[in-house]
Amino acid sequence: MIPPYLMHRNTVYWPDPEVFDPQRFSPENKANHHIGAYLPFAIGPRRCIGDSMAIQEMAVHISRIIQKIHFELVPGQTVELEPLVNLRPKQDIFLHATYR
Ligand code: HEM
Repeated sequence: MIPPYLMHRNTVYWPDPEVFDPQRFSPENKANHHIGAYLPFAIGPRRCIGDSMAIQEMAVHISRIIQKIHFELVPGQTVELEPLVNLRPKQDIFLHATYR
């Protein structure tokens, strides 16, 4: 068993793992990644066959939504993670949504 949650926060491979840093996945940085350090879709012969589609879908959905709507976290909430089959928030997260 390889826990992706721990691999994605392993400071040997990811300095400052909790920091939001999309540049980690720039083509130059990606070239230096260890093959097993990032495995949201698993690796090997049983790796997810929908990985490219899932990434493409997420990029399209998020970019379309945030162009039109601004989200702000309702203050006073505790946001905790619940790593099950997929990583998810433990409690509901409430956001204020306003049109841009
Ligand atoms: C964020 C979205 C997704 C995540 C995180 C994800 C993750 C995974 C993981 C970790 C596995 C390996 C399971 C194992 O160890 O046996 C897997 C397998 C698989 N995924 Fe995904 N997946 C996603 C989206 C998709 C999509 C969009 C499709 C299809 C369009 C898909 C189709 C499959 C199939 C068919 C397998 C089984 C492959 C096999 O056993 O040969 N997944 N997925």
